[in-house]
Amino acid sequence: MKILMIGGGGREHALIKKLKECSRVSEIFCAPGNGGISRDAKCFPDINPCDIPAVIRLAKETNAETVFVAPDDPLAAGLVDALEAEGIRAFGPGKLASRIEASKVFSKNLMKNYGIPTAGYEIFDDAEKAVEYIIQQNKYPCVIKADGLALGKGVVIAEDFAAAKDAVEKMMKDKIFGESGSKVVIEEFLTGPEVSVLCFTDGKTVAPMISSMDHKPVFEGNKGPNTGGMGTVAPNPRYTPEIARRAMDEIFLPTVHAMREMGCPFKGCLYFGLMLTKDEPKVIEYNARFGDPETQVVLPLLETDLADIIDAVIDERLSEIDIVWKKEACACVVMASGGYPGSYPKGIPIGGLDENGQTNGSTVYHAGTRYENGEFLTNGGRVLGVTGIGSELKSALENAYSAVEKIHFDGAHYRKDIGRQALGED
Ligand code: AMP
Ligand code: GLY
Repeated sequence: MKILMIGGGGREHALIKKLKECSRVSEIFCAPGNGGISRDAKCFPDINPCDIPAVIRLAKETNAETVFVAPDDPLAAGLVDALEAEGIRAFGPGKLASRIEASKVFSKNLMKNYGIPTAGYEIFDDAEKAVEYIIQQNKYPCVIKADGLALGKGVVIAEDFAAAKDAVEKMMKDKIFGESGSKVVIEEFLTGPEVSVLCFTDGKTVAPMISSMDHKPVFEGNKGPNTGGMGTVAPNPRYTPEIARRAMDEIFLPTVHAMREMGCPFKGCLYFGLMLTKDEPKVIEYNARFGDPETQVVLPLLETDLADIIDAVIDERLSEIDIVWKKEACACVVMASGGYPGSYPKGIPIGGLDENGQTNGSTVYHAGTRYENGEFLTNGGRVLGVTGIGSELKSALENAYSAVEKIHFDGAHYRKDIGRQALGED
């Protein structure tokens, strides 16, 4: 089985490392990939994942049997549909099903119509009306979300009227996210621990993976601006078997059923971002793909052959597979470039990695690196996801942090409190 992976971050590196363990997988290609991924797969750095004709040409040239589309934007652009139209097997939802992530208006309406618990909301396509609604509600914090994809930056939690008005105007009038902000969702602020649950689904059966916890804000104590994710742990201790049962019955199955009934069955990995409110688990967001950096802690715990699961999803026979997880814990600490999530330099040499981009006692997933003349250089905001595994969360964290200490580059920063809340130490 030859596989072409589309994407080039830590998530894709984790998928590729897992696929390398599968006996049927003979060759892995990755477009565009990155420096670390190039040690595990043949990379095509000049391919843009959203250039659909280029990806189709590459799939044919490499004779890839299966193309795995990992990032949100090529999914939303319809890459999976285009590959299938060429007779190429692809893992990921089609364009219509990808709206569950690519349009918050679509996903909020889906939840309302099918009674799936989520924050109360209103939708606006007019900035003045949105501002009037905020004045009328007079309840803060208030949550403002751009309808479309916005590189993970389309959610603003406004603490007062000035911040709320500013967010609406930046999205709708200044169009800081382009057309993604032509509509906004204004929703109720929820509180409670957050849980990420990634699920395999073939459009009928839902197979939840091990739960995880992301750490989005850049600084310790969940302070500072949001990032793509500064670290993760799995499993998430707040996600008890009782909550998991409720989530399955009240959220996962109804969502997959709704998508099928609406004529856009979802096949691939459906990510549920949940908030465990006092009353019940509620959906904060859906993603139409594996999470990043959730994948980096979930996949190391997967026992079952990933290639077999991919085939079962594509062939709609997921119910025939028994998916088994290791009874261990995993932690990922993201090392980021100085200045991230603002602007940051690139091309800084990274010390402490061997020729495969690894360091003893952990697995290092590369998010933003390039490999030049035998050396790894920084090439993105999030640079490395340093991952440790252990019989329990505490030892997994110790393994991850002791590896982080061996790696250095100028300006590197990382959160020192990943997993602390999960351990109940906060
Ligand atoms: P998202 O980009 O949709 O994942 O949202 C980013 C983060 O904003 C989430 O992980 C939550 O921490 C927070 N958030 C989003 N919606 C709400 C809400 N309705 N109430 C409270 N926090 C929220
Ligand atoms: N870690 C959150 C995401 O992948 O969207």
